[in-house]
Formats: sequence, structure tokens, C-alpha cells
Amino acid sequence: LFPWAQIRLPTAVTPVRYDLTLHPNLTSMTFRGSVTISLQALQATWNIILHSTGHNISRVTFMTAVSSQEKEVDVLEYPLHEQIAIVAPETLLEGHNYTLKIEYSANISSSYYGFYGISYRDESNEKKYFAATQFEPLAARSAFPCFDEPAFKATFVIRIKRDEQYTALSNMPKKSSVVLEDGLVQDEFFESVKMSTYLVAFIVGEMKNLSQDVNGTLVSIYAVPEKIGQVQHALETTVKLLDFYQSYFEIQYPLKKLDLVAIPDFEAGAMENWGLLTFREETLLYDANTSSVADRKLVTKVIAHELAHQWFGNLVTMQWWNDVWLNEGFATFMEYFSLEKIFGELSSYEDFLDARFKTMKKDSLNSSHPISSSSVESSEQIEEMFDSLSYFKGASLLLMLKTYLSEDIFQHAIILYLHNHSYTSIHSDDLWDSFNEFTNKTLDVKKMMRTWTLQKGFPLVTVQRKGKQILVQQERFCLNVKPEIQPSDASSLWHIPLSYITDGKNYSKHRSVSLLDKKSGVINLTEEVQWIKVNTNMTGYYIVHYADDNWEALIKQLKINPYVLSDKDRANLINNIFELAGLGKVSLQRAFDLIDYLRNETYTAPISEALFQTELIYNLLDKLGHVDLASRLVNKVFKLLQSQIQQQTWTDEGTPSTRELRSVLLDFACAHRLENCSAAALKLFFDWMASNGTQSLPTDVMTTVFKAGAKTEGGWSFLLSKYVSLGSEAEKNKILEALASSEDVRKLYWLMKKSLDGDLIRTQKLSFIIRTVARHFPGHLLAWDFVKENWSKLVQKFHLGSYTIQSIVAGSTHLFATKAHLSEVQAFFENQSEATFRLRCVQEALEVIQLNMQWVEKNLKTLTYWL
Ligand code: BES
Ligand code: ZN
Repeated sequence: LFPWAQIRLPTAVTPVRYDLTLHPNLTSMTFRGSVTISLQALQATWNIILHSTGHNISRVTFMTAVSSQEKEVDVLEYPLHEQIAIVAPETLLEGHNYTLKIEYSANISSSYYGFYGISYRDESNEKKYFAATQFEPLAARSAFPCFDEPAFKATFVIRIKRDEQYTALSNMPKKSSVVLEDGLVQDEFFESVKMSTYLVAFIVGEMKNLSQDVNGTLVSIYAVPEKIGQVQHALETTVKLLDFYQSYFEIQYPLKKLDLVAIPDFEAGAMENWGLLTFREETLLYDANTSSVADRKLVTKVIAHELAHQWFGNLVTMQWWNDVWLNEGFATFMEYFSLEKIFGELSSYEDFLDARFKTMKKDSLNSSHPISSSSVESSEQIEEMFDSLSYFKGASLLLMLKTYLSEDIFQHAIILYLHNHSYTSIHSDDLWDSFNEFTNKTLDVKKMMRTWTLQKGFPLVTVQRKGKQILVQQERFCLNVKPEIQPSDASSLWHIPLSYITDGKNYSKHRSVSLLDKKSGVINLTEEVQWIKVNTNMTGYYIVHYADDNWEALIKQLKINPYVLSDKDRANLINNIFELAGLGKVSLQRAFDLIDYLRNETYTAPISEALFQTELIYNLLDKLGHVDLASRLVNKVFKLLQSQIQQQTWTDEGTPSTRELRSVLLDFACAHRLENCSAAALKLFFDWMASNGTQSLPTDVMTTVFKAGAKTEGGWSFLLSKYVSLGSEAEKNKILEALASSEDVRKLYWLMKKSLDGDLIRTQKLSFIIRTVARHFPGHLLAWDFVKENWSKLVQKFHLGSYTIQSIVAGSTHLFATKAHLSEVQAFFENQSEATFRLRCVQEALEVIQLNMQWVEKNLKTLTYWL
């Protein structure tokens, strides 16, 4: 009988050091392993319970420090919890040390999780093998028996046996390399710092690298040999970011080396393994001829994110997965913060702003959850914590706090937190305690922030002017307004930093902040104002609704001179008014009235947000067959943006922000066949095709050009032939998006199928393909059919609850808006396992379909009338 019934491990025994030797065989996809674990007993106990899954254990021996005599012992297995139990030959005594040695063999995984193998073809079409690891959150246990919970920190010595043509990498620098009798080479790596199991990593493959020393840390970028020409940008970026973080945190990066590796097939975007960051090729490699400004931003952001984890996550780790936002929210916040500081020209604040809009939409659903959830145990629940709320709500809350406290206090608190908790693991409250050290009892940060992390959703702040007085009120912003669903909402309360700007004579003097910690409050102004805009630059995580006259005054101000408000504020107003229209708080008519000023808008953030909101409506109308209404909507929007569209050229000129605006505008124009956009795109496409793809195209509009080409018969097949043979992921992705935007369902089906096979199109691209196919008209039904048909294969490849599965479920259902589709999606998931139906992404999908139905019901009349 297995002596332990819980999912969480007992705390009586703790690992101190792992000594791991692995011998992978990349062609037979198996490996042999041996792990020696030094343990300490914290309490007297008979059993040692640890994680292990999929291992064929051949021998376990046990040793006490005193006798140093090995005894072979029995092992019990409990596959359901992925645990094994070692029954010790004698009682383990409190404070004593022991050693456990386990020898085993296992398969190299064919999913993207654990110690996994892939094959790919090099330039000369030769088949190559590659093995890498992805352990977070729960897969270290499939590579070696271990105490696989983040709080069990220990050191690791890793040895890898390999064929001589391969390079082996791990977290630490290589200590030695010996040729063995059988011609194999054994690499040994230095003992690691104290760290969690999910951060352990090793890679075996043929790679080249480019390196540079940064104050004693050797930074290297690795890629397969034929892509070594695309690593320069990553190296420069990493060097700058490493410098920045070391001085901002006032803590040196502790290892002698830092490797960043582009893996040929990888499920996530990237992973922060200590000293050995792993990436998809597209998130690390940069090719000057084919990478767009968006691609450059992506690479910069992903490096900034994973590097920030070396402090937030690696050095200081959440005790348990319920607080994964401490890892991901912080890394995401630091990603945008460091980009603003050292790559300001990239205007990454635009992306952060946009991410906040999207996150709040998700957080306004009933299926949302507090980012610091209490009940996280099963593997699905753990996987599900890696959602955009942990990343972006977490980051948004930190932005709000930083803005409220000042940049200085924020930095000091963070430095204290990192210093105090280095090499240990923490709870959210430990973070807030560090902040409270600096607020001198004038503000209880813990009390304030708990209102944001322990409750789902966010507040709707309603603002009313009464002379010099501004009355404010808060309630939960909840899209699903049926009262029976949310009885507890009446009691939700947040401590909200209310910042605002008014039209007073000197605008900068009238920026101000006050904390609303009750249901309602009053702000006293020194003079009567025409208008007030609350939530300056949208640094606060809330939506603001105004009394009619203030909306009118803001709309008027935008028409007279939009530039008295920042681009963030303008985008924020657009976002808020459309969200409020969805809720029925303001009429859709008024929302359209507000965006009427767009004729004079030149900034990227407000235009993208307006396009996003109107495209959403367009998509709903289009999919429901209200084709005429949909095209009238497009015409209206087109009139607003016509002059900006006409000004665009088919080039890569301008600042990153204007380049992204160009890309958005021309793509919009081409998608709806406006102006002469399609003709211009087609001409570029055919010239490019005539040159057999050698002529260079402007990178920011490349996708738009390819999409135009993919609609032609010869164009699609030409693009496909290029896709298969090209060496730049940046270019391939643009082609793939074009291929997946076709209107020919047979082609779309073929693409999804091929990507599931993984030979011609890597399986890592499948969720992107499904989402792209589902965005357009015939494809949206097909994508859902494909997901249904291949559900079990998808789950096998990407595992239940993973970010990829979440993205596939949302992507293939979010545009449904009929009762029939609702029942169908519901019925499908009900017929799967209970764990599947309970997935949050499934509940969310059902809610989104319902909300789409409600939206159309509520607004169709107005739309018909107004359009
Ligand atoms: N730690 C994550 C990778 C991860 C995600 C592991 C989900 C386990 C489950 C990594 O730091 C990360 O956040 N990667 C992002 C990219 C990032 C720039 C937002 C990803 O993979 O999408
Ligand atoms: Zn991360």
C-alpha cells in the first residue's frame, strides 16, 4: 500500500543535492539515468516520498552518512500522483543526512514536455536529431526522480554522455569533458546554485554559438549551424539587458555563463532555465532582410522577460504554483519596464497598453479567477495558472503600484525583496511586506494589493461632476450582468489609486492622485472644470464611466484638439467606451461618436484600439451573415481613417511606432479591399514571385503582400514551396499567416493536418494556424471541426490545461454567436473527461459565446439604424 495519499509531498525529508548522470540515445529516443540525492530529514520518518513518472527503475540504494554502506531498498509507485515511495531500512532521524541512489531508464518524450526529442532537416536535407528539456511546471519528474515542487531548492551536478558530434549544454558551465572507452564523450557541469527543479535544463544537439563576455559572465547565443548568422541581434540585446538588470536590482547575475538557445521545435515562446534560456527560433533569431519591426520587438521583449526571471523566479521563487504571478507578472512587468528604459525608441508601451485592454476583457468574465488563487493542486489547475491574467494582470498591478508609490520607492522595495529572499521561496505577502518597509506606515501596501490579487475582476469607477466636486463610485465591472450569477459582487471593494487630468489652465498642474478605498468618495478640485479624465495614461487597472455631460465634454475636446490628452489616454477612452457599450452603460452610438475624432489621429495606440474594437463587431456581424451591415461598418471606419491610409507607402521607413501603424492600416485596407491597396500588394507580390523570392520586400507589410498573393492560385503554391525551403523563421511565419488566411477550405484543412503531422510544418505552429484559420469566414467553422476531430491528439501533444490548449480552445470558438454553436461546444466538451469540461478555458469559451449572443441581441437594432 502506498504510504502517502496527498498530491503535495510531505516535508519531513528535504533534498540538498542531486547528482545526475544521463545517457540519451537520440535515435532510439530512450535514455538511461542515474541520480544520487543527498537528503536531510527534518523530522523522524520511515518513508521518503518523491516524484517520478514514466521511469523504469532498476535499482535503488540507500545510505546513511555514518555507515556509508549501501543497502538495496524497495520502491513503491503511485502513478496517479506521479510519486514513488522508498521505504527506508531504518528510521530517518531528525537532522541526519542520507543518500539515495536511483538507477532507471525511460523514453525521451515525443511531446514538448520533459526531456524531449525532435528531428529536423538541415540545409542539405539531412535528418538531424536534437534533445532538449522543458520542465516547468511539472516535468522534471519525468526526466529524473526528484522532489518536484518549487520550494524544494537544492544544488545539481549534471553529467551527460553523448556522441562526439553533439554539443551538450546545461545550466552551469562545463567542468570537464572525458572520452569514454566506447567513444562516447561525457560532459560534467559545475555544481549549480541552490534552485528549484523546474529550472533544471540540458540540451544535446548540433549547434554553433556567438559569445561575448560581460563583466565575468560569458553570454552566448546558440542556434543550429545554418542559422548562426541570425544571432547577432540577440547577443547585443542580451548584453544591454544584463547590464541593466544587474544595476537596477543591485544584484549580480550569479553564474559565470548565460546561454540563450534557439530550439528547432519548442512549445512555449521561451523558458527561463537558470543559465540556459531556451527559445523558439522565431523569438530569438533576427534576420535583417525579413524580420519586421514587430519581430524585432518580439525578440527584444522575450529576452527581456526571460532575463528578468533570472532574478524574479530563479533567485526568488514562489512557494507554490498558486502564486505563479509573482514569477510571470514580474517578468512581464520588467520586460516592458526595461524596454522603456533602454529601448525607448521601440515604444513598447503601446504593446503593454494593448495587453492591458485584452486582459481586462478576460478578467471581466465570470470564469475569471484571482491571480493569487488558493486552490491549486491538480496538474491541470497548475497549468491553468499560466494564463494571461498571471502575466498581464500581474504586470498591470505592478505598474499601478509603481505609478502610485513613485519609481524610487518601487525600486527600493524590489531590491529589498530580492536581497531578503535570495535562494528561497516566498508568498505574495512577502512582497508586500518589502513594500511596507518603505511606505512608513502611511500606506498599507499589503492591505491595498490584496484587494487586487485575492479578488477576480476589477472595478468600474463611475465619475460625476458637481461643480468643483467630483463624485466617484466603484462596483465590479462584470460583463455577465445576470444577478443570480454574481451574488457576492455587491461586496467587492478595491483600494483604487485614482489619478486624473482635467482641462484646467495648466494641465500638468492638474494631474493628481487619491486613493478610493470605499464604495464611494469625493475628489475636491480647486476650480470648476470642463472635463475630467480619470486613470491617467491608464496606469490603473480599472475602467471609468462618466456622467453624460462629461462624456460629451471629452468627445468635444477630442474633436477640437485631441492632443491635450496623451495617446495612452485617447486609446484608453476608446477602449473604455466600447467596453461600456458592451455592458449597455453607454450607447454604441456614443462610442462611434467618440471615435469620430480619429480623422485627426496620427498615433498608433488609439488607431489600433479603434480598429480592434470595430473589427470585433465586424467579425460578429460577418460570421452571423449580416454581410451588408458588416460592410457598411467597414465603410464607416474607412472614412475615418482614409487620409491616414492614403498617406502610407509600401516601405519600412519611419519610427517603430509609425511602421507598426502602417502595417495595421494597410492590412486593414487590403483585408477589406479598400482603396487600391490590394492592387498595390498584388503588384509587389508578383514582382517578388517573378524574382523567385529573391527580391526583397518591405518587412512590415510583407504579411499583407503575401496574403494578397495567397488568394491567387499560383501564389498559394509558390508561397508553400518557399515556406518549405526557407531558412528565416521570421519570413516563414509571414508566409504561414498568409497561407492560413486563404478562403479555400481544402487548403486550410491541409495546413492544419500537416502541422499536426509535424513534418512539413512544425507542430509548434499548430495553435497559430488554428487561430488564424478561425478568424476568417469559412475557416472559423473548419477550425472548430478540426479541433473536435483531433482533440485527443492535441491533448497528447500539448497536455491538458497548457497555454497552447487554452489558446486552441479560445481561438477556435471565440467568434461563435449562436445558440446552436453554444450547445455544440458545450456538448462536445461534456463528452470528454470531467477534467476537460472543468477546464477554465472551456468555461470561458462557453461564456464568451453567450456574451457574443447577448451583444448581438442588444446592439443589432442600433447598428442597423445607425449604419
Ligand atoms: N516560464 C515561462 C514558460 C512557461 C509557460 C512554462 C507556461 C510553463 C508553462 C516563460 O518565462 C514565459 O513566460 N514564456 C512566454 C514568453 C514570454 C515573453 C511572455 C511564452 O512562452 O509564451
Ligand atoms: Zn515567464
